Amino acid sequence: MKQLNIILLILTGLLVFACGSDENPSPKLDAPLALNASNITQNAFTAKWVGVANAKSYQLDVSISNTFASYVDGYQSKSVSDIKAEVDGLDANTEYFYRVRAVNGETISDHSITIKLTTSIPADVPLKEAAQGFFIGNVVQSNRMTGMHKTLLNREFSSITAEYEMKMNIMYPQDGVYDWTRSDAIVDFAVNNGLNLHGHALIWHNSTPDWVENYTGTDAEFEAMVEDYVKTVVTRYKGKVKSWDVVNEAIEDGSGDYRNSVFYQRMGAGYIAKCFKWAREADTDVLLFYNDYNLCDNGNKLTTVLNMTDALLADDVPIDGLGFQMHITYNWPARDKIEAASQKVIDRNLKLHFAELDVRANPNNDLTSLTNARSLELKDKYKEIAEIYTAIPTENKYALTIWGLRDNESWLLNFWGHIDWPLLYDADFNEKDAYYGFLEGLMK
Ligand code: G3I
Repeated sequence: MKQLNIILLILTGLLVFACGSDENPSPKLDAPLALNASNITQNAFTAKWVGVANAKSYQLDVSISNTFASYVDGYQSKSVSDIKAEVDGLDANTEYFYRVRAVNGETISDHSITIKLTTSIPADVPLKEAAQGFFIGNVVQSNRMTGMHKTLLNREFSSITAEYEMKMNIMYPQDGVYDWTRSDAIVDFAVNNGLNLHGHALIWHNSTPDWVENYTGTDAEFEAMVEDYVKTVVTRYKGKVKSWDVVNEAIEDGSGDYRNSVFYQRMGAGYIAKCFKWAREADTDVLLFYNDYNLCDNGNKLTTVLNMTDALLADDVPIDGLGFQMHITYNWPARDKIEAASQKVIDRNLKLHFAELDVRANPNNDLTSLTNARSLELKDKYKEIAEIYTAIPTENKYALTIWGLRDNESWLLNFWGHIDWPLLYDADFNEKDAYYGFLEGLMK
């Protein structure tokens, strides 16, 4: 009996101890559920989470690293009594991470999940100021150099390209008869507004005047005519045109062969080198580019262009860079293709010009209006292109030129025969999502 009493006494003591410890239990603290940030601005955001039972306060961590290798000043286990906290003093257009723990006395819960956010870009930064070490260009037409066209070109852009009025068919409409009216107007606009001017394009099979296409003289006379034209134009605009597309689209898409243009027929493949040499003789300072399209996703064509470029370089032909036209779509080409093609230009120590960027939002004509979803996909592609170009080495940068201001002015609408929204501004000159994506990419 006595033993039973002793056992009962021990069991009672254990029971009391177990219960007695109830007087100061270690509270059960779940990890809070962190929520997406809100009120995101250039320099601040609101961190939010769902509170947990028994929490007396919380500890907030904010970092620029998702491993929290370092902390934003003042935000390492920062004690917070509420289930949200204002985080400020941040950098614009920067990725941040936050997590939170519940606290009750000595007890601290596990960390919540980590939330990622990017602070806003400064709303009032023009594209040309966001660009790091290169021109931001757009096209110009002589009847679009006033009003909002002029306002936007001056506010947002640092370079212009004549969309069509500095081509042979416009400047040299008859044998021996030049018409400088519109090219001079564009050159004067660039000079008067402090804009870089990219000359486009001395030799292009699609802008050759009829009298040249149907040239009746000998091949030697043809070559002399071309030499005179190249030197006349480049000399006229020496010091004002800072770069020229000397030859545009000389390589066929499919075969990768030389395009059978009148220049090729009359002068052979050597016409390309000769035109670069003539341009250099006329202007020792101007940057000389070869320009073409579909170079990021057409291995055959890119290979031919690069082989041609290597041969020009081996013959000391004065070529300074390659222009990728970049007439692309919201989902083509893939980023890695564009980066790989760009790297081949960089490997040759040449300048790379993204020369005619537009991004079709409606390549399959599946939309009758720009949906929010497709607008955001377009925004992502413009951001991607800006990031790619921003990432190339400074010495290889020249310009990133958009081929048009307003959607309704794009050549693509007539070319493809259906509605599209490929540019940064809508028909009312309003910035689209694409504009902000492009700006974000420039500020990376
Ligand atoms: O502005 C005149 C108008 O007043 C006139 O009534 C009308 C009919 O003659 O012509 C209008 O000019 C047209 C101009 O585009 C403006 O719309 C020209 O005829 C037309 O030839 C010109 O087409 C240009 C095309 O190159 C040919 O030069 C496009 O704007 C231009 O976007 C396009 O750009 C080319 C690049 O140079 C090379 N890469 C491909 C790119 C797209 O084809």
